Amino acid sequence: MVASRRGSGSIVLPSGQTMAFHTRTHQEEDLPHATKKTMADHLRKYESLFTLTPQRMRMIVEAFKDTLELGLQKPKQIVPMIPTFVFGYPTAKEQGDFLALDLGGTNLRVCLVTLQGDGKFEMTQSKYRLTEEQKQDEGQKLFDFCAECLKTFIDTNYIDENGQTTLKEGEMLPLGFTFSYPCTQNRIDHGELIRWTKGFGAKNTEGRDVGEMFRKSLEKYNVPVVMTALINDTTGTLIASHYVNPRTKIAVIFGTGCNAAYMENVRDIEKIKDLGIDDKAQMAINCEWGAFDSFEHEHLPRTKYDATVDEQSNKPGEQAFEKLISGRYLGEILRLVICELIDEGVLFLGQNTYKLETPYCFETAFLSLMESDPTDELLMIIGIFTHFFAVETTLAERQFFRALATLIGRRAARLSACGIAAIVSRMNYLDEGCLVGADGSLYNKYPGFADRVHEGLVDIFGDKGRNIITHHAEDGSGVGSAVIAAMTKIRRDAGLYPNV
Ligand code: BGC
Repeated sequence: MVASRRGSGSIVLPSGQTMAFHTRTHQEEDLPHATKKTMADHLRKYESLFTLTPQRMRMIVEAFKDTLELGLQKPKQIVPMIPTFVFGYPTAKEQGDFLALDLGGTNLRVCLVTLQGDGKFEMTQSKYRLTEEQKQDEGQKLFDFCAECLKTFIDTNYIDENGQTTLKEGEMLPLGFTFSYPCTQNRIDHGELIRWTKGFGAKNTEGRDVGEMFRKSLEKYNVPVVMTALINDTTGTLIASHYVNPRTKIAVIFGTGCNAAYMENVRDIEKIKDLGIDDKAQMAINCEWGAFDSFEHEHLPRTKYDATVDEQSNKPGEQAFEKLISGRYLGEILRLVICELIDEGVLFLGQNTYKLETPYCFETAFLSLMESDPTDELLMIIGIFTHFFAVETTLAERQFFRALATLIGRRAARLSACGIAAIVSRMNYLDEGCLVGADGSLYNKYPGFADRVHEGLVDIFGDKGRNIITHHAEDGSGVGSAVIAAMTKIRRDAGLYPNV
């Protein structure tokens, strides 16, 4: 990596935009700027607000463990600990062609996955970007869009050289539907949406069976598909990562949203005792831990910026843990701190700052870029502030912004470590150690995020924390979804728990 870079150039941002940067050799002297000392004083204040001590982390882990236990005992808890009816890990011998549909926070993806056994697979996929309008429109329309995309995908992928369909008369293709929002399940192909998260607000969907809504759309568009399983992305990630690496025991997503799944002993899931499932069986649990500490706000160290993010969101009070961690919110937290300093007359005096005043204009990707700026003068940060927000910065201010990004990014990673630690202690994985399959833009693209999670685990558990290792997971929503569809087919064919 270049230690220092001067001159001009351009970089391509995650959003696809190109940003030019150039080195300036003189600071703009005609604008009033905060002094280095003022910025250092402010930084100290934010350091104490955003820093999590090991002791505080251990307290959070304890509260987290109690919450997980409660969710397993009783239905309708804040952290719902959803039984997924995915029984145990895959054998890695699962084989066959499966379709997977993935309705994520940003895109809709259709995949054709060929499971080859031995933990191997091949995949073809198409992606469709979701518009903001679709996210807020009628829910049924969203599922209609899913069905239409699926149909187009099948029409283009299931044809021979002569353009004729390769599907047999009446053939129905098995599909795993990854729907990454909290749904209560009483069967694997059913799911009642508890609430939308990640800024979605499609109407007439909360409280309804999204499996049923999707099936209605499939019928409407005559799509030759049978939905075998409705899956959360975390459950898919757990199964996909275990399929290729059996030491994986926990899966986490750090993306637009934040959540985890793990394999629980059925005998310890009190709330499904009456289903008559063998006590020795295991079942994947979709924790929906993003909801930890929602409404009550008793355990998490929320700052006033977090409270503002929450109040101004479309779901105040909800997803309290997620709002401190996930990619959807980190940029906004930093923006609110900057806006406060503008209001106090510390930053950008005499400059027009209106561009910074739009909520969510400061992308979390900017935090990643600021933290990874390799130049002495922090040229990347100059570029971000001039190009996107039309404001001039001094080196002291840029160093402050970078340090602030580090504080917010590190807090997110350390809180994530608390969640992982709660599952590790619950399942006694510490001594033998385990792998944690992790996915999502924050985990994959934020520099140092994984290292900070690992540091957090050592702060919580001491040296033994090193036994818990996160790694980039296999594609849960594609491969995982296909493996689960395969596992479900095998289970159903064997007549095991046919009602669920
Ligand atoms: C959703 C979860 C999902 C997570 C990651 C959260 O907002 O509630 O179901 O697993 O985002 O995508």
